[in-house]
Amino acid sequence: MLFQSTHSVAIAFLATTVASFPAVNWYTGRTSIARPELLAYPHNSGRQIPLSPARTTECFVKPQRNSSDDAPAILQAFKDCNGGGTVVLDANYTIATALDLTFLDSVDVALSGTIKFGGTIDYWIANAFQYDFQDSRAYWKIGGKDVNIFGGGVGLIDGNGQPWWDAFAKNDSLLRPIAVVIDGLEGGSMTGIRMIDPPNWFNLIANSSDILVSDMVLSAKSSNENEIHNTDGWDTYRSDHVVIQNSVIDNNDDCVSFKPNSTNMVVQGLACNGSHGISVGSLGQYIDQYDIVENIYVYNNTMSNASDAARIKVWPGINSVLQPTLSGGGGSGYVKNITYEKYESINNDWAIEVNQCYGQSNTTLCELYPSNMTISDIYFIDMWGTTSDAHDPDVGTLVCSSPEQCYNFHARNISITSPSGSSQFICANFDTSDLEGVDCLSDD
Ligand SMILES: *[C@@H]1O[C@H](CO)[C@@H](O)[C@H](O)[C@H]1NC(C)=O
Ligand SMILES: *[C@@H]1O[C@H](CO)[C@@H](O)[C@H](O)[C@H]1NC(C)=O
Ligand SMILES: *[C@@H]1O[C@H](CO)[C@@H](O)[C@H](O)[C@H]1NC(C)=O
Ligand SMILES: *[C@@H]1O[C@H](CO)[C@@H](O)[C@H](O)[C@H]1NC(C)=O
Ligand SMILES: *[C@@H]1O[C@H](CO)[C@@H](O)[C@H](O)[C@H]1NC(C)=O
Ligand SMILES: *[C@@H]1O[C@H](CO)[C@@H](O)[C@H](O)[C@H]1NC(C)=O
Ligand SMILES: *[C@@H]1O[C@H](CO)[C@@H](O)[C@H](O)[C@H]1NC(C)=O
Ligand SMILES: *[C@@H]1O[C@H](CO)[C@@H](O)[C@H](O)[C@H]1NC(C)=O
Ligand SMILES: *[C@@H]1O[C@H](CO)[C@@H](O)[C@H](O)[C@H]1NC(C)=O
Ligand SMILES: *[C@@H]1O[C@H](CO)[C@@H](O)[C@H](O)[C@H]1NC(C)=O
Ligand SMILES: *[C@@H]1O[C@H](CO)[C@@H](O)[C@H](O)[C@H]1NC(C)=O
Ligand SMILES: *[C@@H]1O[C@H](CO)[C@@H](O)[C@H](O)[C@H]1NC(C)=O
Repeated sequence: MLFQSTHSVAIAFLATTVASFPAVNWYTGRTSIARPELLAYPHNSGRQIPLSPARTTECFVKPQRNSSDDAPAILQAFKDCNGGGTVVLDANYTIATALDLTFLDSVDVALSGTIKFGGTIDYWIANAFQYDFQDSRAYWKIGGKDVNIFGGGVGLIDGNGQPWWDAFAKNDSLLRPIAVVIDGLEGGSMTGIRMIDPPNWFNLIANSSDILVSDMVLSAKSSNENEIHNTDGWDTYRSDHVVIQNSVIDNNDDCVSFKPNSTNMVVQGLACNGSHGISVGSLGQYIDQYDIVENIYVYNNTMSNASDAARIKVWPGINSVLQPTLSGGGGSGYVKNITYEKYESINNDWAIEVNQCYGQSNTTLCELYPSNMTISDIYFIDMWGTTSDAHDPDVGTLVCSSPEQCYNFHARNISITSPSGSSQFICANFDTSDLEGVDCLSDD
């Protein structure tokens, strides 16, 4: 027993080292990158993120030579540096076992190296963190308070999605992990990090408040014929005061998606490509739940080659199945005070889509069971650009269940053209009298 415990102390000492700040990493010989200035700009969510005191110690993590699993050493470094330190990750690390980092308090992460997820699919099926919300799974989860993760433009998080996309091609019930789950973080930031190839979404920000995301570069690409799936850039859920800004995303699902109970959020300065748009929803998926999305400001973004630029999607008032692992409808709640301003649309299928019949292709059913979600106080201001030929001559579609469910829609200075030169919108079941630049062709 004595030998056993001495041995494990020795391993822990070798795996991580604590030094006073700033110091040179014992293992890599490098000096760690510095935390950048953290500023929501030009807009904030109504307040800046709380001031975060400078850190005074650093914890270095020795990478495993054989790329097996660095999760235990990384966990140890967070324990050592919690309460005022910086965990320095400046080598190549593999996380092959589930990592719970929800106990953090006043800690930074200087990530100039690479984090790649390893392990087998069977391991993660049995051990990934599980959430009821959309049957989500997570490799790791990060929470607590006052946590800043920065990559200085070089740090990389590699979701290792390819084996998952390959397995999903054979089993479309496979629940794939999200690359980064921020769960229960009060005050924090994630900046200057490159992310590639998540098996599922890139990022979920849940149960959190006062979060700044900035200067990120996200890209998902398959190396074979199996497609990438559900690579949402950021999804917010049960969170308040989040700003996502100045980032570049190349994916094939929502660039940003405001999921249930997302309030006081700003998305600014993004260039998204290939996505499903900057989306409110989907909402109203769960019959016994009340969903709120309120006070959202989407400013100065560019959307290219996507299904939508601006999108609001809510489920109808009846349950339906969209995909084997995604069904819903019947939930209630509201979407209120949403602004899309200064938005360039380049070759998107729809410039604007408002849909209260999400997940249900049978429109008769949607008319029989109108959505229980209301959509109100919606502003589209200064939108310009083009759409693809997908729905030409239509460039947008705003179709509600009934005027009781959709009201106070406003548009100013909208200038969108389809390849044929048309600027026609489909509008139904709401008051269209204050839509300047939106040429409504009623579909009923
Ligand atoms: C990798 O190295 C660690 C020690 O550094 C060892 O415990 C582990 O068994 C090795 N794993 C493999 C797959 O070789
Ligand atoms: C990380 O691994 C890549 C190859 O995958 C290598 O080129 C790079 O030098 C490694 N970085 C470090 C810091 O060891
Ligand atoms: C598909 O994946 C799920 C796990 O997400 C698993 O339970 C099921 O057994 C798999 N099906 C097949 C046919 O492998
Ligand atoms: C959010 O908080 C709720 C309530 O504590 C919890 O059940 C859930 O697992 C948390 N995370 C997510 C992603 O839903
Ligand atoms: C819009 O965002 C871009 C980054 O995509 C930035 O360079 C530019 O300064 C922003 N403009 C305004 C008016 O905020
Ligand atoms: C943008 O998306 C389109 C459509 O998905 C894709 O063909 C193109 O390669 C993407 N561009 C970049 C720079 O990745
Ligand atoms: C959203 O907030 C409302 C009002 O506080 C609450 O009733 C509902 O349960 C919340 N929904 C979720 C998914 O947390
Ligand atoms: C509506 O949202 C904007 C942000 O887009 C916010 O500044 C404003 O205060 C909100 N209005 C109300 C009445 O809450
Ligand atoms: C949009 O897609 C076209 C064709 O695939 C591509 O040439 C262009 O670079 C894409 N735009 C962006 C911003 O990636
Ligand atoms: C759509 O739903 C209605 C009402 O339940 C039903 O009568 C009709 O057959 C459905 N249409 C299709 C194509 O499934
Ligand atoms: C939801 O809508 C359906 C029909 O559209 C209605 O039967 C049901 O009572 C509504 N539920 C709630 C909670 O409002
Ligand atoms: C309308 O939007 C365009 C961009 O398409 C912008 O240059 C112009 O200043 C806007 N006009 C007004 C009156 O705001």
